Amino acid sequence: MAAAAFFASVVSVRAVLLLCVAAAASAQLSATFYDASCPRALATIRSAVTAAVRRDPRMGASLLRLFFHDCFVQASLRFFLLSVGCDGSVLLADTANFTGEQGSFPNKGSLRGFDVVDSIKAQVEAVCPRTVSCADILAVAARDAAVTLGGSPYTVLLGRRDSTTASLSLANSDLPSTTANLSDLITGFARKGLSTTDMVALSGAHTIGQAQCTNFRSRLYGESNNLNAAALRATCPQSGGDGNLAPMDPATPTAFDKAFFTGLIQQRGLLHSDQQLFSGGATDALVRAYASNGGTFRTDFAAAMVRMGSIGVLTGNQGQVRVACSRVNS
Ligand code: HEM
Ligand SMILES: *[C@@H]1O[C@H](CO)[C@@H](O)[C@H](O)[C@H]1NC(C)=O
Ligand SMILES: *[C@@H]1O[C@H](CO)[C@@H](O)[C@H](O)[C@H]1NC(C)=O
Repeated sequence: MAAAAFFASVVSVRAVLLLCVAAAASAQLSATFYDASCPRALATIRSAVTAAVRRDPRMGASLLRLFFHDCFVQASLRFFLLSVGCDGSVLLADTANFTGEQGSFPNKGSLRGFDVVDSIKAQVEAVCPRTVSCADILAVAARDAAVTLGGSPYTVLLGRRDSTTASLSLANSDLPSTTANLSDLITGFARKGLSTTDMVALSGAHTIGQAQCTNFRSRLYGESNNLNAAALRATCPQSGGDGNLAPMDPATPTAFDKAFFTGLIQQRGLLHSDQQLFSGGATDALVRAYASNGGTFRTDFAAAMVRMGSIGVLTGNQGQVRVACSRVNS
């Protein structure tokens, strides 16, 4: 009895502390954080992202997704502040004595762009050593990637610090699955403090980038759909070819535009989870609004990115500024 009460109060104290830390932390992010300490940081990141996307247009999508997967893997109440949100944890590589998030089901064999982030970090370290966090680099790179491909510009709030930990189990549990239905998606984003509008707008990131056959095979063969079946079935046979790629917005695969939403109205969403956004439910109207007005989509996307970018950040003296994004400072 006493033990149970004690346990409950420890849990709630932790929960309260965590909420305070999260609230205080997001209040401390600032647009001008590096203005004095590293005035060249933003321009350095932008030119590196622009060059990387010019070399490989898909890299814009890959950088944007890295930021999402960083922010969505959040604090655990089981282990106090094990790992928080946009804290660069996704960038930590596995070593003999460290298991990070890169081997989780949603990430393994799928996330890309680590080499580009390492290279951006090296360029930023060259102008301002030990000053700019990997978590901030990812936040800025994601914005610049979207803008390079046609997204609306917005101001990124800065001052995140890097984690010294990562969580494989939370990467497995907290990242949304392609098998999710609409209510799963709404709930999953709500658990991160994001609204249904944020969820739909952020899902518009799939207007760029590609998915592997293994992630759309069951929709292609198992659901009645309007996918361009012949071409997709050649890419994605019923067995084999798991890693073969198809664009999630085949109309304009490297343009950050509203065509992804137009595709959903035509029942052409490649992922089951994407088509859920236009499947007779509460988000149909918003999908129609974005499909008819790309400006509204881009504005809502930018605002939602700012909100996603403040999930569970470390600030002040918490965490560290990693020297190399793939490993904790020794
Ligand atoms: C709503 C729930 C979401 C689900 C279920 C989901 C799932 C997926 C899946 C399965 C892929 C393909 C991975 C592969 O086959 O290798 C993918 C790719 C991608 N996702 Fe999501 N995603 C979601 C939301 C988001 C959000 C919120 C963003 C960013 C704001 C995002 C950005 C991307 C991008 C840009 C790609 C393409 C990456 C590339 O081509 O390298 N996704 N997503
Ligand atoms: C983990 O291994 C690295 C070398 O790979 C070593 O430098 C580091 O001290 C080890 N850390 C712990 C906590 O054992
Ligand atoms: C959505 O899927 C979850 C399981 O992931 C299930 O519990 C729930 O009943 C489903 N909701 C609807 C409306 O189909």
